[in-house]
Amino acid sequence: MFVTELESALDGTKFPANELQTTHKDRPLWVRYDLEKVAAALTKDDLSNRPADIWRWRELLPVPKNAKIITLNERITSLIKTESLGKDFGLSNVWIKDESTLPTGSFKSRGMSVAITMAAHFGVKRIALPTAGNAGGAAAAYARQADMKCLVFMPEDTPVANQYETLSYGASAFLVNGLINDCGKIAAAAREKLNCFNLSTLKEPYRIEGKKTMGLELAQQFGWTLPDVILYPTGGGTGLIGMWKAFKELRALGWLETDVMPRMVAVQSDGCCPIVDAFKSGERFARPFQNAKTIAWGIRVPAAIGDFMILEAINESHGTAIAVDEKMIDEWTKISSEKTGLSICPETAACVGALELLKNQNWIQPDDRVLIFNTASGQKYKDSKKVELPKINIHEEIDWEMIEASL
Ligand SMILES: Cc1ncc(COP(=O)(O)O)c(C=O)c1O
Repeated sequence: MFVTELESALDGTKFPANELQTTHKDRPLWVRYDLEKVAAALTKDDLSNRPADIWRWRELLPVPKNAKIITLNERITSLIKTESLGKDFGLSNVWIKDESTLPTGSFKSRGMSVAITMAAHFGVKRIALPTAGNAGGAAAAYARQADMKCLVFMPEDTPVANQYETLSYGASAFLVNGLINDCGKIAAAAREKLNCFNLSTLKEPYRIEGKKTMGLELAQQFGWTLPDVILYPTGGGTGLIGMWKAFKELRALGWLETDVMPRMVAVQSDGCCPIVDAFKSGERFARPFQNAKTIAWGIRVPAAIGDFMILEAINESHGTAIAVDEKMIDEWTKISSEKTGLSICPETAACVGALELLKNQNWIQPDDRVLIFNTASGQKYKDSKKVELPKINIHEEIDWEMIEASL
């Protein structure tokens, strides 16, 4: 256990790490480590000899030695060079890290495995959280493993696959006629009313540590170098903040074989882009976005309590924040799935749109090494698009002209 303390991201106030913590002034806490000790205890070779999962990073995770790890086998995800995706925009070095292969089909399992391990370690028996979809499914699955009760609140138009998976793991799930922030208020109230620990994004310090493994993992996969640009679909921002933290920790450990840090890009839809607006106006905090609408549910987050941490990561990394055309997300999902053969989710499709925009603005150069995260499996969203396939009646003559016309 190399954790030294928890620290308020807002004002640096310190908190002990050996008890259950939440937020400070309703803003998130960082987990801090003794990185000198980590460097003395762990080598890159040690890491390579360990199982290829998130727990190989144990020294950089907050879990005490005696804690029981709640895991569903979070294996390393593939890092794939895609020739086809950047080609049309004149880009030769585009990569995808495919998080859809993780348990419950999204990157949310990284954060949930660590957060629920910590909650269980501190004796939590009940959790509550709001979700855009994937976090609810992942929380339900891990809570089940930990024998915890799990309450999930989600907007009523959440993809049916997400609703179903939440129930199938035995959680109690509720549809709310509002957005994720309305669901968040109910999850917060469940603490007082029902003694449920609030596992909302960044309302506890450990989901971010799990998400950090995306950054640690990709550094090792790239041979301890880093991409020039990372495009990340940004909702609550845990992934982007976590990765930036990972890169800074790796640099402090002296493990990076490059001084070049990636430029972090927060990608949002123009139907919900509070971070882009705040970035453009140079503000420290984002204003709540009114009438948020996007079919990329995971980035339909009108207000994020880690807004200032997202903006700090973007600014420190000389990155940017960009809003893409909501009307195009469906089309980009189709195009990028066809081109890559992967099951691309709409949040990631927004990043594909951003790739084109940023290349056209010369913000991305032709040979820049660009990394896009496929944060979830596109298959989890299909029902919500009401896919209607033409029907064939086996009692009637088959209409081959119709079939040929579909080719
Ligand atoms: C598929 C998908 N992509 C991206 C996001 C946004 O993630 P973050 O909270 O790390 O910004 C979410 C969050 O729900 C998601 O489900």
